[in-house]
Amino acid sequence: MSTQLKTVKRVTTHTLQEMKAGGQRISMLTAYDYSLARLVDAAGIDVILVGDSASNVMAGHETTLPITLDQMIYHASAVVRGSARALIVVDLPFGTYQGNSKGALNSAIRIMKESGAHAVKLEGGKEVLTSIERILTAGIPVMGHLGLTPQSIYKFGTYVVRAKEQEEADRLRADAKLLEEAGCFALVLEKIPAKLAEEVAKSVSIPVIGIGAGNGVDGQVLVLHDMLGINNEFNPRFLRRYADLHGVITGAVSGYIADVRSRSFPSSDEQY
Ligand code: KIV
Repeated sequence: MSTQLKTVKRVTTHTLQEMKAGGQRISMLTAYDYSLARLVDAAGIDVILVGDSASNVMAGHETTLPITLDQMIYHASAVVRGSARALIVVDLPFGTYQGNSKGALNSAIRIMKESGAHAVKLEGGKEVLTSIERILTAGIPVMGHLGLTPQSIYKFGTYVVRAKEQEEADRLRADAKLLEEAGCFALVLEKIPAKLAEEVAKSVSIPVIGIGAGNGVDGQVLVLHDMLGINNEFNPRFLRRYADLHGVITGAVSGYIADVRSRSFPSSDEQY
């Protein structure tokens, strides 16, 4: 990385806290590799999430469950090398923190030590509280994640909006408070009613970052490949596409194939 990149001031968990207090919205996107992390970071994103959505987006799995800790560390290390400004948060993958707080601490330590990332994220409330508390004892910042938690897809059975019913909404409110009290530095709320998300964001002092959770929260997160329009088959209501890279990339590749076949590439200027 260039010296110029190294002199940029890094966003910290404290910066995010100040942003919430000052009413400044937080921007967060996923990235899983060096090249895209460089672009996203240089554009000025506040937080890069090395999400376990890498399981879907990078590896083509149907769910986030198969990705391993070693694979997350591989992606996170590349993102860290490509970033100078953003806070880098890494998902603890399925099976590395649930029901075993010692295992959770070991997983989080491996991520921090081997990738150089700055924080971890994990899914769930009360049921993973002991894992969160144990990770925090090592001084590792933890971001919570409530609402639609894709690692529990086989419990939910579907990716529909969560917490529409009173009981689940009450549980989510209570879990958000628990996570705040435990010491999480921020919270992701995924695919829940906007009104509930706004209420939760107002009820806690930590920043609440939404995805499919409306505009009343403290920041937004999207999966980079979705917002860039690389995958044009995923069309949930909450997704705004900022580019059509599917069209750009297939157009470029088709042009290349045509040029190779017609022998117009390379030209005399493109050879030695
Ligand atoms: O893995 C991921 O990309 C995430 C976001 C959807 C918040 O957890």
